[in-house]
Amino acid sequence: MMRRLGAWAVYVYFAVFLGIILGLSSYWDHIYATPEQPIKFPHKTHVEKVGLKCESCHLYADKSRQAGIPSVERCMQCHQAVKTDSPEIQKLTRFWKQRKPIEWAKIHKVPDFVYFSHKRHVTNGIPCQTCHGEVQAEMEVHKAKTLSMGFCVSCHRENNAPVDCYTCHK
Ligand code: HEC
Ligand code: HEC
Ligand code: HEC
Ligand code: HEC
Ligand code: HEC
Repeated sequence: MMRRLGAWAVYVYFAVFLGIILGLSSYWDHIYATPEQPIKFPHKTHVEKVGLKCESCHLYADKSRQAGIPSVERCMQCHQAVKTDSPEIQKLTRFWKQRKPIEWAKIHKVPDFVYFSHKRHVTNGIPCQTCHGEVQAEMEVHKAKTLSMGFCVSCHRENNAPVDCYTCHK
């Protein structure tokens, strides 16, 4: 009887262990997965090398809920002339010539039942990096913060911003 129980304990132990590993890896994918983009747009090059400000492309970050993704026309202001021999820029030029918007994959999002606005945060001087990580140093944007409820609420507490449910769940 005792030996049987011992064997069961070992099975249960491994089953739980395996469950935790599988659970963690799918959680990790869910939270931090980086989707493939239609064009490999390097933030590092544009911010650190070319010297562009975030707001020069994400035009509405201090004006509305959405920060906004730049149009193909914005890119072509430079890339009609810059790096036209690059395959990525040739892809970009095809979108422009066909007047097709680029369908960038979304990386940061909150569920529909959450109300979020960039304007209130950005005009309060909270740097983009607090919520998005070191985008200016990335060749490919990835999700650096969970953007979970705990993440939002703990900063609100520290800064005397509202924490009643209605603030974020309208
Ligand atoms: C030359 C224009 C340009 C500049 C300058 C720029 N971005 Fe972007 N940004 C883009 C484009 C295009 C995308 C969509 C493609 C991608 O995700 O890489 C994007 C995507 C993003 C995303 C991910 C959006 C999502 O789906 O979650 C974040 C966050 C972001 N940018 C933050 C910044 C920050 C912070 C800066 C300044 C340090 C900055 N960007 C500067 C063009 C720009
Ligand atoms: C203000 C000018 C400017 C704007 C606006 C701009 N870029 Fe660029 N981009 C550059 C410069 C300059 C380089 C090359 C830097 C280097 O490698 O020396 C570059 C490099 C690139 C590269 C890398 C090409 C390669 O093969 O090395 C890609 C891809 C790119 N840009 C895409 C975009 C997209 C997409 C947009 C619009 C969201 C955009 N750029 C907007 C100036 C600009
Ligand atoms: C307080 C946290 C916070 C700050 C600060 C912040 N963001 Fe965001 N950002 C978010 C959240 C949350 C989302 C997802 C919003 C959604 O799902 O509607 C997001 C989404 C985005 C997106 C993709 C969707 C969109 O709104 O266009 C871009 C681009 C972006 N942020 C850029 C920026 C830039 C640039 C800055 C700085 C000027 C910035 N963010 C500052 C939290 C933040
Ligand atoms: C780094 C700190 C910080 C983080 C992280 C943060 N917030 Fe905020 N948030 C603030 C501050 C500070 C204010 C108050 C701004 C003011 O008083 O104008 C605010 C205000 C707001 C408001 C407006 C409240 C009102 O009365 O209009 C909403 C909605 C909001 N935040 C939602 C969110 C959500 C959702 C997240 C997570 C995705 C988040 N915030 C993450 C600091 C933060
Ligand atoms: C500062 C913003 C903020 C406040 C305040 C807030 N929430 Fe949330 N809440 C969020 C965000 C962001 C998510 C989505 C988390 C995610 O995507 O995993 C969320 C998710 C949830 C969920 C879905 C389950 C889950 O955990 O993902 C419930 C239920 C919820 N909130 C209830 C509440 C209640 C009740 C209150 C008041 C006591 C409250 N929230 C206050 C931002 C907030």
